[in-house]
This record gives sequence, structure tokens and C-alpha cells, in this order.
Amino acid sequence: MALITGGAAGIGEAACRHFVEAGARVVIGDIDGDRAQALAAHFGSAALAVQFDAGDTAQVQRLVEQGARHFGRLDFLFNNAALTSRDVIQRDSNPVDIDFEVWDRTMAVNARGYLAGCKYAIPHLLAAGGGAIVMTGSGSGLRGDLANIAYAASKAAIMSMARSVATMYGKRGIRCNVINPGLILTEGGTKNVPPPMVDILLRHTLTPRVGVPDDIGAMVVYLCSDHGAFITGQAISVDGGLQEHMPYYADFATGGAKWG
Ligand SMILES: NC(=O)c1ccc[n+]([C@@H]2O[C@H](COP(=O)([O-])OP(=O)(O)OC[C@H]3O[C@@H](n4cnc5c(N)ncnc54)[C@H](O)[C@@H]3O)[C@@H](O)[C@H]2O)c1
Repeated sequence: MALITGGAAGIGEAACRHFVEAGARVVIGDIDGDRAQALAAHFGSAALAVQFDAGDTAQVQRLVEQGARHFGRLDFLFNNAALTSRDVIQRDSNPVDIDFEVWDRTMAVNARGYLAGCKYAIPHLLAAGGGAIVMTGSGSGLRGDLANIAYAASKAAIMSMARSVATMYGKRGIRCNVINPGLILTEGGTKNVPPPMVDILLRHTLTPRVGVPDDIGAMVVYLCSDHGAFITGQAISVDGGLQEHMPYYADFATGGAKWG
């Protein structure tokens, strides 16, 4: 059984679909209980929806215990829920202007929520004889940017968290990896990014298109499957090469300048 947080929409929803297509049963944890229920109904007995807030550790514990009890075991955790609401993202600015309340809420959901997922899921993974944890990071955790200082710090924190979990539990059969998406066309991804910025991001992406949720959902299931059995402690970018080129790439590519 796989437990997916933030599973009702976007990347989480795609991961649910990929898990079910691979034959797994899924627990869909989301703050939007109605949307989680609607998705679970689509999967029938293979899915359970649980409404919860990733920023509340007691609710994370209830989600894990309810899911494990319902399906009798827990094999995979996809820590994916993060604050993507426009309201919070817009107030998550720079060190001078940010309210501590925005920092605290961002850290509570994006970082402590992932720790709580690990805290309550790992005993079940050990009981099942091992398993895998995947966490959704972001390119924002790898590079500096002009805004979203709390979001970026939270995403950097989980890369360290994942390496520690991989190191602490590897010999006991638990692998842990982070996926850093590029721009993915989800409500969370696109509603926070104005159209002109999407164009700029596409210019810096090496593939002809930006990402779709299935790009990440497929990688989550790959990392949890036996194909990923030797991959642990990694932060893997699934971003169309957004982070992998010279900083001047887009200017050269679109301005016609050539070497030599
Ligand atoms: N879409 C992108 O371009 C992109 C890029 C980099 C990283 N990410 C990361 O991918 C993950 C998923 O983002 P998405 O684009 O699918 O966003 P989304 O807004 O489409 O989906 C997020 C889901 O998480 C749920 N959620 C939000 N706050 C929650 C909370 N406190 N408790 C429980 N559930 C909560 C929402 O209800 C929603 O169903 C996030 O961790 C985000 O930071 C997304």
C-alpha cells in the first residue's frame, strides 16, 4: 500500500493513478477532503481518502494509522503535500518583508509535515520488511531566487532529511529519495506563475515542453519499484533540464549568438 500526501490534485493525484495502475492500493491524504473522496471513488476499493492537514502532526499520525489499519500494511510513503496556495506564496517574500507566521506555517507543512510522515510511517515500513519513501522537493531548494525564501528553505531542508533517513534506515530495507520537479502544469504550479514567467521558464527548459504531473507520478512509482532498488539518498531533478545548463543558455539559444 502507498500513502500519498497532497494526493487529491496535481502531482499527488498523478502519483495515485500511477500507483493504482501498477497494482498498488493507495491512501489519498489531503486537506481537501471532498476532492480526495472523489478521486478515491474513482479507484473503488483500491483507495481510501483521508482528510488531514500536513501542518498538524497529530493529523499526520491519524492519517498514517488509519491508512495502515485499513489496508493492513504500509509499504510506500509519498511525502508531497506542500503549501501551494497563492495567498501564502505571495506573502512568502524576502527576509526583510516576510511575516514569521508565513515562515512558520510553511515550515510546519512543507518540512515538519514530511518529518511527521516519516516518524509515523517508518515503523510500519519496518514491520512490512522494508519499503520506500519519496519526497517532493523543488528546484527552489537548489538555487537562489528573488522570492519565496521560506518555500526554498523548506525544500532544501527535506533534501537533507531524505539523505539522513536513507542513511539511518538503508540497512533495514528502507530507501528514501527526493524528486525536484521543474515547472509542472498543475493548479499549484501554474496558478502561482504568471503566463509571461511560464514563457521564460519554458525558454530555459531543454525539452520542447514544460512538465506535466505524469512526468513526476511515473518517477515516484519507478523509485518505489524494484527497478529503483539501488537508488537511495538521491535528489533527482525531473525538470526538462531546467537546472542543467549554462546560465546564459536561453539568451544564446533565442538571441542567435554563436560560439566562434
Ligand atoms: N507544480 C510545480 O511546478 C511544482 C514545482 C516544484 C515543486 N512542486 C511541489 O510539488 C508538490 C505538489 O504540488 P502541485 O503542483 O501538485 O500542487 P497542487 O496545488 O496542484 O496540489 C497540492 C495538493 O496538496 C494539498 N495540500 C495543500 N496543503 C495541504 C496541507 N496543509 N495538508 C494536506 N494537503 C495539502 C492540496 O489540497 C492539493 O490537493 C508540492 O510539494 C510542491 O511544492 C511543484
